[in-house]
Amino acid sequence: MLTGKTILVIIGGGIAAFKALDLIRRLRERGASVTPVLTPSAEHFVTPLSVSALSASKVYRDLFDLTDEAEMGHIELSRAADLIVVSPATANLMARMAAGLADDLATTLLLATDTPVMIVPAMNVRMWEHPATQRNLATLTGDGITVVGPVEGPMACGEFGPGRLAEVPDILAAIEAHFAQGPLAGRHVLVTSGPTHEPIDPVRYIANRSSGAQGTAIAAALRDLGARVTFVTGPADVAPPEGVDVRRVQTACEMLAEVEAALPADAAVMAAAVADWRVSNASGSKMKKDGTGRAPALEFAENPDILRNVCESPARPALVVGFAAETGDDKGDVVSHATAKRARKGCDWIVANDVSPATGIMGGSENAVTLITDAGADPWPRLSKTETARRLAARIAEALT
Ligand code: C5P
Repeated sequence: MLTGKTILVIIGGGIAAFKALDLIRRLRERGASVTPVLTPSAEHFVTPLSVSALSASKVYRDLFDLTDEAEMGHIELSRAADLIVVSPATANLMARMAAGLADDLATTLLLATDTPVMIVPAMNVRMWEHPATQRNLATLTGDGITVVGPVEGPMACGEFGPGRLAEVPDILAAIEAHFAQGPLAGRHVLVTSGPTHEPIDPVRYIANRSSGAQGTAIAAALRDLGARVTFVTGPADVAPPEGVDVRRVQTACEMLAEVEAALPADAAVMAAAVADWRVSNASGSKMKKDGTGRAPALEFAENPDILRNVCESPARPALVVGFAAETGDDKGDVVSHATAKRARKGCDWIVANDVSPATGIMGGSENAVTLITDAGADPWPRLSKTETARRLAARIAEALT
């Protein structure tokens, strides 16, 4: 519930603006007060009358409105809210925010505020993928702004790809997570997840079968306990959870850079299945058969051990949790390997599991893990990955509080 919270909703000028009406309605159903702000271009998509009716509030539209300034100056408007949500955040609005412009009411409020800001981007896929938008996105996340979505799917312009506004229930989940009052409220937890892709040439890569399901469930469980989660993910099969700060990477080296940038953190859960080696002689162009029947020789270099780097970092989190996915003939094997790994890597806990194909764990919806701590090995029953994640998050909360 959002009872007693005031949310300033800035509606940008994109086709997804119509979804802001539903968002406003549902925020109010959950007990929030909504103060709506419309950009001039948003008025081409939704009318001030419908926004006002749904929010039961005056709609703020103009930077130089004398009545508004007399009643409540725009600086105060931006600060009276508990959260500012920009939905849809268009490419243009993101660019103006990243540049620190204040050339209309919306951007002036955003520049003048000390209230947390969440943006929900929506735009054409090419606009989203454009380096300029990605640069702006990095600037905005670096400024501490929470980003929800965009998601992949068919778009109003007829194209398909990332750029669609996140679904309204997911935006609500992110807003509720922002106000969560759990035992991890105020704590920052870093989670790595998914496989890495190590390029052989521009079209081929070396990967592994990790789906990212367990890491994603862990990030969601930590978020549900109130943690601020930075989620560094390789190219996983499952979508990242809403309400966490997502950093997408392809390779182990990129993952290390994002992990280092995310520190300091109170805890780190390193669930990613990181490739041990990368191709050191990867080709800049697609490798071709040369007609001789000779296969090209790939050379490998060892990837950085991200977990060990985190453990040895001067900004080492108080609790570092590693994973050990093994293919053992019997459980004893898996546990003894994982126990040795815990000592070798210098982490506090290891979550060990047997990922032999017969277990169905890799890519499946269940897991059977053993938690190894300095108190010894604690085997957990076979549970859904969601339940395994909840138990682990609860243990982390216990350890940090
Ligand atoms: O060495 P191994 O891959 O078995 O260790 C598994 C643990 O180490 C996992 O927590 C994984 O995320 C982490 N790891 C890492 N960087 C690597 C290899 C593994 O962080 N290069």
